[in-house]
Amino acid sequence: MTLMVFDSGLGGLSILREVRAVLPDLPIVYVADDAAFPYGDWREDELVPRILDVVAAAIDRHAPQLVIVACNTASTLVMEPLRERFDIPFVGTVPAIKPAAEQTASGLISVLATPGTVKREYTHDLIDKFAASAEVRLVGSDALAAVAEDHLTGGTVDMDLVRDEIAPCFVERAGAKTDIVVLACTHYPFLINVFRKVAPWPVDWLDPAEAIARRALELAGGGAPAAGEPHQPDRAEFTSGTPSPAAARLVAGFGLVA
Ligand code: DGL
Repeated sequence: MTLMVFDSGLGGLSILREVRAVLPDLPIVYVADDAAFPYGDWREDELVPRILDVVAAAIDRHAPQLVIVACNTASTLVMEPLRERFDIPFVGTVPAIKPAAEQTASGLISVLATPGTVKREYTHDLIDKFAASAEVRLVGSDALAAVAEDHLTGGTVDMDLVRDEIAPCFVERAGAKTDIVVLACTHYPFLINVFRKVAPWPVDWLDPAEAIARRALELAGGGAPAAGEPHQPDRAEFTSGTPSPAAARLVAGFGLVA
């Protein structure tokens, strides 16, 4: 049994590390559509066929039994067509608006995502359905996914840029303050320490990775490899062909052979 984890770039590694913790014995293939990164500002009518093509080709190559779409920008768009087209289970990653609405004390929550995710009908439906009692501020950042990739591959983070990008998440209204920021892009958990440093006040940064991993565990049915199945190394594939040396080092640190 092979498990596939898919993202536009390196952000899905924040999901992979939690999935590994609950399914340590399953071989994983990580597929990064880095040739098309970032997905955040793609037009929806162009992004859907792009993702379907990349995922279809990867499914052909690896025949996974379970696919995790470790990308909000993709999941808010393609889960339905993927499920229609392939007869295997998919786990999507969508903004954790429901738990945020359940947990907020102040009633002010923010969703930090890519510009694509904040535009999606899917995201607006989640707010209507699950967060009617809260005030939800949607914040789409053009820059942060790339900042996270740079940071992950050894680059220096521009703290002022990050401060400016997250500033709209912090709302003060009639003595109440935003108390939860949903990390609705899988790249952002890698910037959490920077966010904490530049945030105007402390908040809960809601990362959905553990919940995604629990769902993957349920669908993988325990996650034991089939008896006699040879142990395969976990792999990473990049649609650009060859990852940069820094990206190759990074994925090697996550135990993946590029
Ligand atoms: N990691 C992706 C997400 O969760 C997005 C990054 C990108 O813009 O490609 O939305």
